[in-house]
Amino acid sequence: MRVTTLADPEAACARAAEVLERLLDAARRERAAAHLALAGGNTPRRTYELLAQRMKDWRGIELWFGDERCVEPEDPESNYRMVREALIDRAAIPSEQVHRIPAELGPDRGAAAYADQLRERLPSDEHGRPVLDLALLGLGEDGHTASLFPGGPALDAGGEICVGVHDAPKPPPERVTLTLGVLLAARRCLLLATGAAKGDAVAAVLAGPDRSVPASLLRAGRLDVIVDDAAAPAPARRS
Ligand code: 6PG
Repeated sequence: MRVTTLADPEAACARAAEVLERLLDAARRERAAAHLALAGGNTPRRTYELLAQRMKDWRGIELWFGDERCVEPEDPESNYRMVREALIDRAAIPSEQVHRIPAELGPDRGAAAYADQLRERLPSDEHGRPVLDLALLGLGEDGHTASLFPGGPALDAGGEICVGVHDAPKPPPERVTLTLGVLLAARRCLLLATGAAKGDAVAAVLAGPDRSVPASLLRAGRLDVIVDDAAAPAPARRS
């Protein structure tokens, strides 16, 4: 696990954009196509805006989503809408390269439809799980990531690729999320968290796997954690 601490949210988001560009370029060089799953919420918006400024050539990059709220795509709560405004429109990424989650169908129908798309377009690992090249993930104060909440069913979804969430503690309650299994199959994950409110969750992720902290279950050897000073664990007290 590589942990990078930057002075403030702007610097952390800028570093995340740099790392995303570098990893996407490398994946595209190796495999001609690079599949990137994007985080929702507020934190990554600035990263997407900076990435749109940095990256001008999006050939071979396929955009996916780690989770989506069960709202219409143009609803202010939609993760797709945030990514469209901050990245897709600014970088003029062709719509055929953007695979939003049809979460307006509802948690279970949306999950089933998205799982079909992932199976159809992504290579699979030995367990039949679609292999993303890269997943940008956010971190909730309770240690959730995507819509994998503590004690939620999506953590135990076995061989499932996507599942519906019906009672998310973070509104709105109905969502669709990639399962932990798909995040574990990803070649690389990038966890971005800023602000003092995320400090305890970041410390819990760094403390090692704990089923009550979903983000701590990500594969440490394939994980970059980017935080700002406010979200970083307190420096070890010098004896
Ligand atoms: C969502 C996100 C969620 C988010 C975290 C952090 O749909 O809400 O996917 O997992 O990344 O809750 O959200 P903020 O970046 O807004 O703090």
